[in-house]
Amino acid sequence: MSQQKCIVIFALVCCFAVLVALIFSAVDIVGEDEDGLTEDNCQKKCRVTLVENIPEGLVYSENATSHLSLYQGWMNLLNMAEKSVDIVSSSWDLCSKNFTQSFQSERQGQYLCEKLKELKSRNIEIKLMSDVQHNTSEVLQDLKRNGVEVQYLNMTAYTEGRLHASFWVVDRKHIYIGSASLDKQSLGQMKELGVILYNCSCLVLDLQRIFALYSSLRFKDNVPQSWSRRLYGLFGKETELELQLNETEVKVFVSNSPKLFCPTDRVLDVDAIYSVIDDAQRFVYIAVMDYLPLVVNKNTIRYWPDIDGKIREALVLRKIKVRLLISCWKDTHPLTFNFVSSLKAICIELPSCSLEAKFFAPKEQKNMSFPKINRNKYMVTDRAAYIGNFDWVGDDFTHNAGAGLVIRETDGWNNRNDTSIIEQLKAVFERDWYSNHARSLLSNKIPDCLKQKLYRSAPNKTANGIADGKDHFTVQ
Ligand SMILES: *[C@@H]1O[C@H](CO)[C@@H](O)[C@H](O)[C@H]1NC(C)=O
Ligand SMILES: *[C@@H]1O[C@H](CO)[C@@H](O)[C@H](O)[C@H]1NC(C)=O
Ligand SMILES: *[C@@H]1O[C@H](CO)[C@@H](O)[C@H](O)[C@H]1NC(C)=O
Ligand SMILES: *[C@@H]1O[C@H](CO)[C@@H](O)[C@H](O)[C@H]1NC(C)=O
Ligand SMILES: *[C@@H]1O[C@H](CO)[C@@H](O)[C@H](O)[C@H]1NC(C)=O
Ligand SMILES: *[C@@H]1O[C@H](CO)[C@@H](O)[C@H](O)[C@H]1NC(C)=O
Ligand SMILES: *[C@@H]1O[C@H](CO)[C@@H](O)[C@H](O)[C@H]1NC(C)=O
Ligand SMILES: *[C@@H]1O[C@H](CO)[C@@H](O)[C@H](O)[C@H]1NC(C)=O
Ligand SMILES: *[C@@H]1O[C@H](CO)[C@@H](O)[C@H](O)[C@H]1NC(C)=O
Repeated sequence: MSQQKCIVIFALVCCFAVLVALIFSAVDIVGEDEDGLTEDNCQKKCRVTLVENIPEGLVYSENATSHLSLYQGWMNLLNMAEKSVDIVSSSWDLCSKNFTQSFQSERQGQYLCEKLKELKSRNIEIKLMSDVQHNTSEVLQDLKRNGVEVQYLNMTAYTEGRLHASFWVVDRKHIYIGSASLDKQSLGQMKELGVILYNCSCLVLDLQRIFALYSSLRFKDNVPQSWSRRLYGLFGKETELELQLNETEVKVFVSNSPKLFCPTDRVLDVDAIYSVIDDAQRFVYIAVMDYLPLVVNKNTIRYWPDIDGKIREALVLRKIKVRLLISCWKDTHPLTFNFVSSLKAICIELPSCSLEAKFFAPKEQKNMSFPKINRNKYMVTDRAAYIGNFDWVGDDFTHNAGAGLVIRETDGWNNRNDTSIIEQLKAVFERDWYSNHARSLLSNKIPDCLKQKLYRSAPNKTANGIADGKDHFTVQ
């Protein structure tokens, strides 16, 4: 009798064990990930800081606002790393040994790469994501030899575009996202801006899915018909993630591009930008290197009205004050002036319609071989901010891969002592806007920085007009 009982109990125990195993495997299928990180146990009280690279020799007034340097911000992130570092970058020559001059920025680049190797030697997992066009980068090959995992994305195959995404995830807790990639000029003559969020694993849950989406595409020349559920967006325009950034209550979500890379519930960058502009009540300040509502692709050129139209709507129908701070540099498209002038012109004779545009073009010292360029890629309004990887040109949004972060304040600006990230970003914009490096765009005068270029590439009159997008521009 007792033997039978034993067998029955044994069978029951076995059944129970199998059941438990089944439940756990089911949980694993729909649940979150290896670390057991879920929407219920992730961190929602984050610290945040802006990081900037201000090129040497770019001087502001003494009391101008300043933030943690990009180099120090990145180094801090690497110093914190205990388990993993994931980096997506659009370029990879940060620590190329090919020194042109002994700039401090080149040494800083070296320190960052040495740090990555040191982390690897301490068994910290490092994953780097690059466009396959950089597969011969000596930096990547050197890191690979040191055991770092390098993954390539062939954007040519999906959209004939490029990987322009630039973000970091450290220990599945800390995030960097912004204009700077691992380009040696990012710590040098380029003016860059990004944001670092510490202890913010709830947001990581979602951003990591964009990294995972890229990962899922390596070795593939096609995008799958349908994406795995694990790559779906977690938070969006109507389902924002509520967080505390320092002392401020905010709602955030990440956006992604191109459309082809947006599975269910993932917000497209253009839609994220729309939502921030629509939400503004008083002003929209935009700081980007290039502004051009065109898609210039090989031999064709077409108008890309999406963001341009949204700005016109905000100006004319909603009386939102818009400021546009763009750069004027050697690759500025000659039609930039025309499109920006036409945005200005739409306000003619309309009371409280205001678009102001300025070019950020620091006067160069005679002995500097490299021009300093503002590569910022953000927008700030009276209520929200969007910090992204793209310039506001059609090609980026339609063909290239990149991500963005939207931060919206939910409480007022009154009952706090600290300044919020939105206020800080606004102060950065105003610092640049009112500095003597920014020049107003007058609608009847082509700015000097463009003029030189226009005369230099003296146009040949051709039948196909502006078909190749460049070098066919006449100045009367
Ligand atoms: C900076 O200082 C100048 C003169 O000292 C002053 O006019 C200006 O208002 C100050 N700006 C800020 C943002 O405090
Ligand atoms: C080193 O830099 C020079 C000038 O910047 C460039 O022409 C050359 O191709 C570079 N060499 C390597 C190996 O990257
Ligand atoms: C890099 O990519 C090219 C094609 O774009 C390919 O021919 C070459 O073999 C690749 N090199 C490496 C080292 O993977
Ligand atoms: C990337 O895709 C293009 C177009 O499909 C192909 O020609 C090229 O060989 C691919 N590059 C690599 C390195 O696989
Ligand atoms: C992140 O959280 C940990 C544990 O609560 C804390 O020790 C650390 O200082 C925090 N990091 C930052 C940058 O606030
Ligand atoms: C350029 O010249 C200025 C003043 O003449 C000097 O302060 C600066 O160090 C020089 N910069 C370089 C890169 O040589
Ligand atoms: C702001 O600072 C004052 C004085 O330091 C303090 O009494 C007050 O509680 C602070 N308010 C908040 C919201 O932290
Ligand atoms: C948030 O707190 C950190 C220190 O914990 C500070 O360095 C940072 O400047 C603060 N950010 C804002 C936006 O106040
Ligand atoms: C303009 O025409 C000349 C002579 O026909 C030619 O050499 C030059 O390359 C052309 N320039 C451009 C920008 O097409």
